[in-house]
This record gives sequence, C-alpha cells and structure tokens, in this order.
Amino acid sequence: MPRESRGFPDYELPRLVRLADNLYGAAFFLMKLLPARHMLDRAAAEGRLKPGGTICETTSGTFGLALAMLAAVRGYRLILVSDPAIDEHLHKRLLELGVTLEIVEKPYEIGGFQTARLDRLRAAMETHPGSFCPSQYGNADNPRAYAEVAEQIAERIGHVDCLIGTVGSGGSMSGIARFLRHLNPDLHVIGVDTPNSVVFGQPDGKRLLRGLGNSLVPPNVDHRQFDEIHWVGAPEAFLATRHLHRGHALYQGGTSGAAHLVADWWARNHPDRKVVTLFPDEGHRYAATIYNDDWLAALPGWTGVLPEAPRAVAHPSDVRPDWSSFRWGRRTLDQVLTAEKMLASDEALPDGGLAEAA
Ligand SMILES: Cc1ncc(COP(=O)(O)O)c(C=O)c1O
Repeated sequence: MPRESRGFPDYELPRLVRLADNLYGAAFFLMKLLPARHMLDRAAAEGRLKPGGTICETTSGTFGLALAMLAAVRGYRLILVSDPAIDEHLHKRLLELGVTLEIVEKPYEIGGFQTARLDRLRAAMETHPGSFCPSQYGNADNPRAYAEVAEQIAERIGHVDCLIGTVGSGGSMSGIARFLRHLNPDLHVIGVDTPNSVVFGQPDGKRLLRGLGNSLVPPNVDHRQFDEIHWVGAPEAFLATRHLHRGHALYQGGTSGAAHLVADWWARNHPDRKVVTLFPDEGHRYAATIYNDDWLAALPGWTGVLPEAPRAVAHPSDVRPDWSSFRWGRRTLDQVLTAEKMLASDEALPDGGLAEAA
C-alpha cells in the first residue's frame, strides 16, 4: 500500500451495540478518524497535499488526535495549534505521535483564544508554503465521509426511525442524517448541544462539556436536518457517561453520555420506534475527570442524580443549565431565532414532532 493511502480501516467504523429492544449505540474508537482520512485522501488526490508534505490545523480535540494518527503512518508533518486548555493526556499522545504542538499562551482581548489560534495557524501556514489545512468546520469532505456509517447502519440495523447525536463541527450528524434520509425521509433527527454553545442559538459562554458545541457556527452544521435539539449540561452528561459504562460496559467519553441520556429517554418514550445514537470517542482520556468520583463531586451543579426528562423550552434563549429540549422543526438558525416563541409543550416532544417539520 502506498504510504499516502495508509489508514485504519479496521477501526474507522463504529461497533453497533444493542442497548435496548429499540435502541442501538454506534460506539466509535475515535469517530474523527473517518472524516480526517477522507479529507487527507481528497487533498492528496487533488495535489493539495504532497507526499511528505505539511498539515496545519487548530484543534485541541479528537480531530487533532485523528490527524496525528494518520500523519504518523502516512509520513506527513503535522503542526497543531492549541491553547492551555488542552488536556495532559491528549498533549502527551500528540507528542508521542510526532506532532509539532504550538500552544497559544494568551487570548486576544477581542476574539479570545479562538482568534489568537487562527492567527497562529495563518502564521504557521505562511512559514510552511504549500501546507494543507483540513478545516473540519467548513470542509465538505467532513460530512461526506459519514456515508460509510449510514451505509453500515442501514445494512446492519435496517429501517431507522430516529437518529440522535452530539453536534460540534456538525459533520457527523449532518452527514449521517442526510444519507439516512435518502432511505427514510421521515427520519426524526435529534441534535445534542450544551448550554453556552452558539451552534443552536445560545449565547457564547464557558462550557465544561467539550467536543460538542462551539463558540462559532460551523458551516458544516446543516440546521435544516434537525427536528429537535437538546442542550445537556456537563454534570448530567458525565453521570450518563458513567451509567453507560456500568449498564453496558461501554467506556466512552462525555459526549457519548450526553447522547445516551437523550437517546435512552426518547427510546423509552417511543417503544415502537427504532433509535440509533452516536458515541464519538472512548473514555481513557477522561479517567482523571469524568471517571473520578472526587472530581465529579467538586463539579458546579453536581447532584449525582439524573433528571427524568428534559424541560421543553419555547426558544433557545430559554435553555436551562441542566437539560432542555426544543422543537427545531428542520429550520435554519435564522428562522428559529427570528420566529415567534413556539409553544413549549412537554407532551409534544415524546411524539417527537414526527409529523411537524416546518
Ligand atoms: C468527543 C467528540 N464528540 C462529539 C463531537 C462532535 O462531532 P462533529 O464534529 O461531527 O459534530 C466531537 C467533535 O470534535 C468530539 O470530539
């Protein structure tokens, strides 16, 4: 196999695990391996990434780890720009994989770390002419990569009524929803975000639950795919992550817990509907945090108890810190934010708004 096309085909796709009669989890080793591989393949095929070339990206999450794994086996140089919030576990792993890590030490007064990191990324690309930046937030090969997951789900599970997953860059949920809707236009799609993320209309703010959510709205989020949005707080997501481990032996990260919380609730309320939910990464990176009782007990808002159900809200601005749900109705962000407040009805959601896409 030529060096440029090496990858990890045996563990790019998730294990499909049956969690209840009508609920399946798609548990990834590292979900970002799939879009990262597709982006590099396309760039190499189009000559935008030369053999032995340089890749530059800004990330402090799983996308950087996936790029690092691929760069190491394909012989690319990888420069990642991050900030001091990068966790120690990931930091060490990236160095072990040969990444050049540039940590931006100070946020800008206007634009914070995000703008400071983008400036550093631009500088790195100027220093390395001809380098390739994958740009997962806007690169259409990110959502496109997930055709393989949709195919796997359709082959192994068959007809699916509801897809539930977290939204960060938007690639996974927008991509899988688009492909599965070719098979079932009535597929009910639920996106999971977190309070203080702007992706579905909350004001930007500090977030403890990472991986999902964003401080900017990525072009790869296709808002019109979503019927329903839930915002899950960090304590609830982390407790649900622990339940996933104890109840199903799935040792996953915090965004998997957030997805599981929503999917378990929705599946119990719709016993005759088949539900698939996405678990994006494994739990090893969170051993000292999510899987540490003392760390959890010190968490602001920690109660150790999961809410029974979300609170239905009339508008994204009404989202509460713990767990809220909203009938998005396959609208654009603009349409939602400029619309009159919808009736917030707790009864309306369990039927899932299956027939009420606007
Ligand atoms: C751990 C984790 N979960 C969920 C997501 C969200 O996935 P997507 O970017 O496809 O929306 C990400 C994105 O980086 C992630 O790192």
